[in-house]
Amino acid sequence: MIHILLRDLEIPDIWQFDTYTANGGYDGLKKAVHDLSPAETIQIVMDSNLRGRGGAGFSTGRKWSFIPKDAETTYVVVNADESEPGTFKDRQLLEKNPHQVIEGAMLAAYAIQAAAVYVYCRGEFWDLAHALEDRIEEARQANLVGDDILGTGWDCDVHVHLGAGAYICGEESALLNSLQGLLGQPRVRPPFPAQMGGGLYYQPTVVNNVETLANVPWIIVNGADAYKKIGTPESPGTKIFCVSGHVAKPGNYEIPLGLTFRELIYDHAGGILNGKRLKAILPSGASGPVLKATDEVLDAPLTYESVAALGSTLGSASFILMDEDTDMVWAAAKMIHFFKDESCGKCTPCREGTYWLDKIYARLLRGEGTAHDLEMLEKVPNQIAGVTLCALGDFAVNPVLATLEHFRDEYEQYIHQPEFGPEPAQAL
Ligand SMILES: Cc1cc2nc3c(=O)[nH]c(=O)nc-3n(C[C@H](O)[C@H](O)[C@H](O)COP(=O)(O)O)c2cc1C
Ligand code: SF4
Repeated sequence: MIHILLRDLEIPDIWQFDTYTANGGYDGLKKAVHDLSPAETIQIVMDSNLRGRGGAGFSTGRKWSFIPKDAETTYVVVNADESEPGTFKDRQLLEKNPHQVIEGAMLAAYAIQAAAVYVYCRGEFWDLAHALEDRIEEARQANLVGDDILGTGWDCDVHVHLGAGAYICGEESALLNSLQGLLGQPRVRPPFPAQMGGGLYYQPTVVNNVETLANVPWIIVNGADAYKKIGTPESPGTKIFCVSGHVAKPGNYEIPLGLTFRELIYDHAGGILNGKRLKAILPSGASGPVLKATDEVLDAPLTYESVAALGSTLGSASFILMDEDTDMVWAAAKMIHFFKDESCGKCTPCREGTYWLDKIYARLLRGEGTAHDLEMLEKVPNQIAGVTLCALGDFAVNPVLATLEHFRDEYEQYIHQPEFGPEPAQAL
C-alpha cells in the first residue's frame, strides 16, 4: 500500500529534519525554486487534479491560479483547525510528518509568491503547535524558510497561530477573521479569500487544508502524471480516512481513492466491533448525510463523485460507523445538539433553526414527541438550507433529513411508543 502522506508508518522518525531530508524531504521545494517558475508550479498541481482535503474537494491548482497576478502582498494559510467530529488525520500529519506539511505550504507560498505562511491550529493542539514551531525553526536554519530562501532572494516566513477551539473557525473566512484577532465568524462573500479584499488582512490568500498541502511535495517531485496513476481520474491520489465508531480497528487509513467502502471497512479497518452488523455510515462526520449500509453503498467506490451520487459527501473523510444497535434518532439528536452549540449566531436561520431542532429532538428523546414534531422536522430544514451565510447551516440539516429518509420507522417508534428510547444516561 502506497503511503504518500502517512510515511511515518514506514519511516518512524520522519518527523526529524535529518530523517526527512535523508528520505527526499525538501527536494520538491528545491526543485520548484531552482527549476520551476511560480506559474509552472501552479500548472503541475493543476494538472495533477489534486482536490482539497478540507471538505469541499475543490481543485487545489485552480484555487492557487485565482490569486491575482498583480497582487502586491499574498498569503498562504494552512487550515489545521481539524474541527469536524471524527477527524484526526491532520493531527497525525503534523505530529508524525510535520516537515512534509511545512514543505507543502512553502510550495504553495512559492507558487503564489506569498509574503508569509500562517498555520492556524485548533486550540487543543497547543502541544503540537509548540513542536511545530521547533520544526519550522529547523527549516529556517537550513535556509528553507525565512529570508533569501536557498539563495533565490525570495523571503517567506512561517508562523503558527492557535485558535480558541470553535468548530466554525475551521470555515475559511471565520478562520481568517480569528487569525486577524476578530470574532471568529464567517465573512460575507464575495470577495472570496483568493480575491483582493477577501483574504488575510484583506489581501489575496490561499487557504488549504493540512492534508492537501502534504500531497504537494510528492506531486512536484514525481509529476502530475504519476499522481494521476493513483486513484481515479476524477479523484486522483490517496486519501486518509479517519475511521471511528463501532469498528474493530479505529484509526487513520491512507488508501488510494477508488477502493470500495467494503474494502476500507472490512479489509483495512477489521470490520464491525464484536462481529455486529453494520447499520449506517457517516462518510464525512456530522456534516454530511448518513448512508444506510446497503450492498449498493458497500460496493461503491470511495471517490468524491461516487459518494455524492449516493447522496452524501466525502468531505474530510471522517468515517464514522454505526452498528445495528445504534438508535438513529438519538444519533441525529447528538449531531443537532453539536451544530446548535457551534452555530456562530451571525445569521438567523442557522441560529434559530438549530435551536428549534435541538428542542424538538430533546422532546422526542424524553418521550414527549408528537406527529406535529415530525412535521416540523421536515419543514424547519427548508428554512435553513441554502439561505445561510456559510455551509454550517447546510451541514446542520443533514442529520435530520438523512435519518428521516433512511430510518423514519425509528422516529415513528418514538412518537407511538413513548417508552422507547435511549437509556437516561444517553439522553441529551
Ligand atoms: C463549518 C465548517 C467547518 C470547517 N472546518 C474545516 C476544518 O476543520 N479543516 C479544514 O481544512 N477545512 C474546514 N472547512 C473547509 C474550509 O472552509 C476550506 O474549504 C478548506 O480549508 C479549504 O482547503 P482545501 O481546499 O485544501 O480543502 C470547514 C468548512 C465549514 C463550512
Ligand atoms: S450559517 Fe450558522 S455558523 Fe454559518 S455564519 Fe450563519 S450562524 Fe454562523
